[in-house]
Amino acid sequence: MAQAEQLKKVLIVYAHPAAQNSFNAAIRDRVADTLLASGVEVRIKDLVRENFDPVIREDEWVKGFHGVVPEECRVAQEEISWAEGLVFICPAWNFGIPAILKGYIDRVMMIPGFSLDMGEDGTDYRGGLLTQRVALVLQTLGSALSSATKYNNSSAYSSSIVSSLYYMGIKDVRLCQVWNLYQAANRSKEMEQILNDIEEEARALHAPRPTRPFITIAR
Ligand SMILES: Cc1cc2nc3c(=O)[nH]c(=O)nc-3n(C[C@H](O)[C@H](O)[C@H](O)COP(=O)(O)O)c2cc1C
Repeated sequence: MAQAEQLKKVLIVYAHPAAQNSFNAAIRDRVADTLLASGVEVRIKDLVRENFDPVIREDEWVKGFHGVVPEECRVAQEEISWAEGLVFICPAWNFGIPAILKGYIDRVMMIPGFSLDMGEDGTDYRGGLLTQRVALVLQTLGSALSSATKYNNSSAYSSSIVSSLYYMGIKDVRLCQVWNLYQAANRSKEMEQILNDIEEEARALHAPRPTRPFITIAR
């Protein structure tokens, strides 16, 4: 696990269609500014503006059995290897994460030999390889936390990314879900408070926080 003084490089993976004028964009900017101000080198991977293709096509699928990864995915893996901290910023869409982020996990991250030790024949999961990373998932939700239980449960919105990060060996995975944005967006004071809470999470990225990994900002 990265220690406070060791965390120098953070990759922010941003998964929202709006480059500006969205709550996700405001979160991205606040996190990046906070980290930069504390001397962290920050890279932002903007999946939508990069036209990241989330679909595994047949050619890639077949070559994958021989350990061949497309060039764009190999480059994206280098960005992850560079980073000590990974921050994912996304909205909740239809009870999960946006497809572009799921595709990034499928095509770039969850790859045997890169993040997974699958044994010699590639079928025996022995553990994750990204053990020296800290990860923070920041997810915004339009609905109130109370409505989550009505249709499913709150973890369903983020379980694919959180479980994947654990599976890839990251022991310090934090999830911060901001609920009820539809209401809060009408009240600028609340929005500022939410961003201040998120700023605190960004600062806390430096310090291991195994006892409080899941944070809910619910209103
Ligand atoms: C296609 C789509 C699907 C959505 N699905 C959900 C959902 O399942 N649950 C929820 O709470 N909010 C849902 N929302 C609301 C978004 O999560 C919310 O608008 C977003 O978090 C606000 O952040 P933004 O201003 O950065 O877009 C959805 C929004 C869109 C556009």
